[in-house]
Parts: sequence; structure tokens; C-alpha cells
Amino acid sequence: MEPLRDRFSKGTEDSARVYSASIPFDRRLYREDIRGSIAHARMLGKQGIISEKDAELIIMGLVSIREEIEAGEFIFKDELEDIHMNIEARLTEKIGSVGGKLHTARSRNDQVALDMRLFLKEAINNLVAGISGLQEALLQQATVNKDIVIPGYTHLQRAQPVLLAHHLLAYFEMLQRDKGRFRDCMRRTDVMPLGSGAVAGVSYRIDRKFLADELGFSRISENSMDAVGDRDFIIEFQSCASIIMMHISRLAEELVLWSSAEFSFIEIDDAYATSSSIMPQKKNPDMAELGRGKTGRVYGNLMGILTVMKGLPMAYNRDLQEDKEGLFDTVDTLEMTLKVFTGMINTIKINGEKTRAAVAEDYMLATDLADYLVKKGLPFRQAHSAVAALVRYALEQSRQLNQLTIEQYKTFSNLFGEDVFDITVDQSLVNRNIEGGTGPEQVSLALEKAKKRLKESG
Ligand code: ARG
Repeated sequence: MEPLRDRFSKGTEDSARVYSASIPFDRRLYREDIRGSIAHARMLGKQGIISEKDAELIIMGLVSIREEIEAGEFIFKDELEDIHMNIEARLTEKIGSVGGKLHTARSRNDQVALDMRLFLKEAINNLVAGISGLQEALLQQATVNKDIVIPGYTHLQRAQPVLLAHHLLAYFEMLQRDKGRFRDCMRRTDVMPLGSGAVAGVSYRIDRKFLADELGFSRISENSMDAVGDRDFIIEFQSCASIIMMHISRLAEELVLWSSAEFSFIEIDDAYATSSSIMPQKKNPDMAELGRGKTGRVYGNLMGILTVMKGLPMAYNRDLQEDKEGLFDTVDTLEMTLKVFTGMINTIKINGEKTRAAVAEDYMLATDLADYLVKKGLPFRQAHSAVAALVRYALEQSRQLNQLTIEQYKTFSNLFGEDVFDITVDQSLVNRNIEGGTGPEQVSLALEKAKKRLKESG
């Protein structure tokens, strides 16, 4: 019969066994599980709970199991339910009944909590590095294209000219906050739960501090019931991941728009584009669309774990097994998304002619005209109204503002003088020489500062 069935008169029904087995997905935790078990065995030996000799034997067994798994020689069995039982059963096969001593002063409940925390700590570190890579790509494009001007949009209507670098730096800021969120999540993930046992804490004199040090944790959990029933760290991670995916999705949307014929601001590199099965001319921005689309599944994973946790009585419940697939999926999705977007941003070509042309149209200097009148003494609201009437007139005449004569200007305000023609896109930018604004000097400073921040904080 399967292990852990001595209490029962029969084995599990086939469908129940398949239904409850987590081994198809939690086998991915083998490294964390073995690492945790090695530390646990070492601690049991040090504390005299098992003999040092047994501890050695167990550790050697675990190391060889890890090698078997990595060589693809390990046979995972779903009748052994999960990664923990698979490894323990194999250990006993290899070293005999001493293997049965490993689970002294431990439960799968604190064991799985440990594995998940070890897994997530590594994932967070990798993802933070991945985010920095994407930020570097944005800074690189901002630096190479630092003279490119694009329309700044509000309501997706052309609003005021901005530097492309300024636009890209906005994404740098979003990603910087994302890293801060992941690091904050790390603080609450970095807690060592062993010693909690099944629910009440274990009855052996174990050394929790030693375990924390061995496994690289900063703290040990404060309450055994909380420690085995808590998945807040996964919920937090899923929400951090959802927020960064939302940011990437916004970037993706702009890449899709900007690469369309209607905008033509950018060209996505062929290596990141796909074609159509029917229309031979097509060049589709599929990677950007997929980044936007995969945001949905990451949100789904957040909703999934929030819903799993809702209404669970204390402490461990098997429902918690449902924390895994969504977490693995989010980690993989985000890791790949960062990689693809970093490559895509690094290789994008900007069409400076198109962006310039876009800025020249659509009365984007209207605010600057109003500001001009304000500087000549008119209250802003009146200046706004005069320029609005001027724009309306220009529209009726099918003229851009710089195509009107000074006489035409003067019919809307006698404060207009010849110097109104000094209002240009470049001047509009220069005028915004304010911290956080799109003035070229400010953007250069911001770019330098961003590079420094990235170097300092990683
Ligand atoms: N596969 C389980 C999980 O992921 C491991 C813990 C099982 N504990 C138990 N009491 N059945 O949550």
C-alpha cells in the first residue's frame, strides 16, 4: 500500500490520488526541499536529537537524491503525493530506516512553508535583476534618442510636446517603484517557519536560529499557527507582480500603437515581430500584445490565491496546496516578459521624422501661447479663452498657428506682438525647465540621476 495509509483499511481511490497529488508541479521545489532537509538534519545532529552519524548519512543520501533528480534519473511517483514524500521515500530506499529519522521534529506543513519561502526569495532576487535590465534598456534608448520630441498625450489626444527620453523615464520610475515593492515583499518572505511543526510547535529542543542562519533567513516566525497557515507573502508577491505587469502592459500598448501605420513612431525589430498566415505584408507586434495579454493571467493568479485564502480556518488546510501553480506561473511569466521586453526595447528604432511631424501639427503650442499672454499681463483664464478662439479660427481657416499673420493674431488679443513667432517646439521644451519637467536640461539631469540610481541600488 501507499505510505501514510496504515490507519486506513484501503488505498486511495485512483481519481482521489490523482486529484490530490501535487507532485506534477511541486517537483519543481526539489532543490529547496533538499536544502531545507539538509539544514534540518544537520540541526538534529547538532542538538543530539539524532546522532551525528545518522545526520551525516541522511545528508549524503539527500545530496545523492539531488544528483539523481538533476540527472533525470529520479522516478517521481504520484502515489507519494508530493515532493516531500517522494524525497523521503527515496531516502529510506537508499539509506534504510535511518531515513525515517529525518522527519523528526518537523511536519510537511512547516516544510512546505519553508520551501515556498526559499523558492520565492530566489525568484524575487532574479526578478529584481530582470527589472533593472529593462530599466537599462529604457535608459539606453533615452540616451541615444535624447533629442527626439514626441507629442505628450492626454486622453490620447496630442497635448504638449515632450522629449521621448522624458516619456521613457516615466517607465523607469514605474519600474523603480516595482523594485521597491518586491524588496518590501522580500522582508516578509524572509522568515523561517521550521519549528512550527503541524500547528502547535514541535516538542524537541531544536535550534531555530541555527536553521535560519543555515538557510539564509533574517528572522524566524513568531507564531506556529500563523507560520503554517500564512500565505500573505505569496499574495503580496502576486500583487507586486500584477502591478508591474500592468506597467509593462501600458508600455506594450504604446509599442502597439506607436508601431502602427497611424503613428509610425517606432519600428520593432524583426526579431521581435511576427507575420500573418494570410497577409504576406504584415509585421505584427505580437510580443507587445502578448505582454499585454499575459497581464491578464497574472491578475488571475492574484485573484486565485486571494480567493483560496478567503475563509480558511486556522491553521494549515490542504487548500493551501493551490498556492503553487499560480505562483510558478507568475514567476515564469514575469521572468520571460522582462527578458523579451528588454530585448525588444533595446532594438527598437525611432522614426524621428514622424515624431517631429506629429509635434508640428494640432496646435500643441496653444498652452505656450496662453502662457505668452499671461507673461504680457493677461489673467490665465482670459488668455486661455483668447487662444481657444484663435485655435477655433485657425481650424476654420485650415491653418496651423504659425501660418497666421500677426494681424490675425491681434484680432484675438492686442497683447500679441511679433515675438509670438518665437514660440516654437524647442522653446516650449526649454521653457519647462522645472524639476521633473520635460525641459532638455532637466531631462539630461534626470537621465544622469536615473543611471546613478540604477548603479547604486541595482
Ligand atoms: N503538498 C502539500 C502542499 O502543498 C504539502 C503539505 C501537505 N500537508 C498535509 N498535511 N497534507 O500544501
